[in-house]
Amino acid sequence: MRLSSSNSVIGALLVCVSLQALGVAISTKRDQISNSSCNRMLQTRSIEPFSTFDKTTATVMRYRKQQSVNMGSWFVHEDWLTPSVFKEAAGPKVSELDIASGSDSTDCARMVLETHWETFITESDFFYLSSIGINTVRIPIGYWSLGPEFCVDTPFSAVADVYRNSWSYIVRAINMAAAAGIGVLIDLHGAVGSQNGQPHSGISDGHIGLFNNATNIKKTLTVLSFLAEELCNVTNIVGVEVLNEPVDCPELIGFYNSAISTMRSVPGAETFPLYIHDGFNLGKFSDFIANRTDFIVQDSHSYFVFTAQDEKKSASQHTKEIQTTVSDSLAMASANQRGNLVIDEWSCALTPTSLSAESDQIAARHDFCNVQLQVYWNTTAGWSFWTYTKEDCDNDPAWCFTAAVGNILPSDFSSSTQSCSRYSAGLIDIRSDIASNSALSSRDPFAAIRYRRWRRDAETMTSEQRSSSQGYSDGLFAAHFFCAHGSRLGFTGQYIQDSIEALGPHVVSPGTESYYSASFMRGLADGE
Ligand SMILES: *[C@@H]1O[C@H](CO)[C@@H](O)[C@H](O)[C@H]1NC(C)=O
Ligand SMILES: *[C@@H]1O[C@H](CO)[C@@H](O)[C@H](O)[C@H]1NC(C)=O
Ligand SMILES: *[C@@H]1O[C@H](CO)[C@@H](O)[C@H](O)[C@H]1NC(C)=O
Ligand SMILES: *[C@@H]1O[C@H](CO)[C@@H](O)[C@H](O)[C@H]1NC(C)=O
Ligand SMILES: *[C@@H]1O[C@H](CO)[C@@H](O)[C@H](O)[C@H]1NC(C)=O
Repeated sequence: MRLSSSNSVIGALLVCVSLQALGVAISTKRDQISNSSCNRMLQTRSIEPFSTFDKTTATVMRYRKQQSVNMGSWFVHEDWLTPSVFKEAAGPKVSELDIASGSDSTDCARMVLETHWETFITESDFFYLSSIGINTVRIPIGYWSLGPEFCVDTPFSAVADVYRNSWSYIVRAINMAAAAGIGVLIDLHGAVGSQNGQPHSGISDGHIGLFNNATNIKKTLTVLSFLAEELCNVTNIVGVEVLNEPVDCPELIGFYNSAISTMRSVPGAETFPLYIHDGFNLGKFSDFIANRTDFIVQDSHSYFVFTAQDEKKSASQHTKEIQTTVSDSLAMASANQRGNLVIDEWSCALTPTSLSAESDQIAARHDFCNVQLQVYWNTTAGWSFWTYTKEDCDNDPAWCFTAAVGNILPSDFSSSTQSCSRYSAGLIDIRSDIASNSALSSRDPFAAIRYRRWRRDAETMTSEQRSSSQGYSDGLFAAHFFCAHGSRLGFTGQYIQDSIEALGPHVVSPGTESYYSASFMRGLADGE
């Protein structure tokens, strides 16, 4: 699959290259020939519809614990992942903008990219992922991915037409994931003006131009609003990540506050999960989330190859630290922010120096990799490996998921997402209860919680007893409900928070929330 996708990309490039050569020979005909040839497969594509919103499935997908992979270099290119796509790029040949500006004409650049979008990852990849227990994918996109109208007055304006069909490919990707039962986190990797100056934000001039520029902020808020509008009612969308890896500048918190209130004001997005990257400042953004009650998730990235400090440590030192200090600080942050924490980029990469300190390098990397997996699983609501696939994948298992699976990573991840098979007999009852509860299938997923025993004798209980009793049965129910859907609860604190809200003060009296949540946790543990 990888081979054929590379081949077709190269094939597309060859067409453009030979046309270029031809163009040199017959220079007056160049544009005409080039356009008509690059254009042959380039009609405007229609945008597929999403299926009707199913709130119960959306609740499962949004609150369950995530095991995920990143689909890097599909819609935002990085030269070390997909070098063949950069062959005809312009300028420094390191960013998405360089690709869009290359290939002799926008039609040819469009053909290069559309061929890549069509072939780099296909439906069978999503079925493969679901067959090994991956339940979510994180898909990086840029503002340009939304289409030409979002490129106006940006560095992409001259090449806007390259992205004529790009949103339809994003929609197609979401629907392919849906067909395989996989949730999608759409991640804004490239904001207008750039949030980090890195080539993976789409530009190659290194300039960080988002935060101090009102025009760029306004455009980025429009982008985020569009994403909330288009995606908040899509069943398998688990959320939108507001920004990837912004610099942790003084304006960042203000930007996040504006972004969140803009997105929350979209009808239907009041409770939609929004993810924020922490600019590599775990503690600060843990407090930011702790200060709020809505479904905001912190994404923290975890790499051990990029600093001089990382280089100095051996692989086994890294492994030891991940088990101790890293694990402790993640557990502490997680507890501080009701569990709304994910590690949505990590890999098995170590520097050659870190590895050279080991007598058994293969075993050292295996431990490093699997300890990360366990620590992120144990301390957070989920993880996402960087990255699903790349060119020369087989020689790079540390970064390439498909080569790492069954090698330095386990061959199957499904056992950890399902932990309650011993309750399978009980589940049948729960399932028929769910089926017979019409309130659940219509609007409110928390109606199932309300439905669980709201007994006559509740009237005679103290408010603390009532909260405890309700909490326990809701926790038990949640364990069974998620298990019945082949998964387990991940965003536990948020689920409790949202349940208390849905139940209302006549069920959980103000001041007794801690009784509810402590009992919920006991019920959940008993159910799992
Ligand atoms: C071919 O494409 C170029 C650049 O996109 C454009 O300037 C030119 O007018 C086009 N030529 C024809 C004949 O369509
Ligand atoms: C903001 O960014 C835009 C686009 O990059 C640029 O044209 C404009 O000059 C910038 N404005 C300021 C005040 O820096
Ligand atoms: C999402 O669905 C809700 C409920 O049907 C509706 O009220 C809301 O307007 C929808 N939002 C968008 C942006 O389509
Ligand atoms: C969280 O709230 C506290 C108390 O209101 C405030 O001092 C602090 O700055 C807030 N932290 C963040 C990161 O928003
Ligand atoms: C993760 O949690 C499991 C179960 O509690 C435990 O057995 C394992 O040692 C933990 N792993 C790490 C690396 O902390």
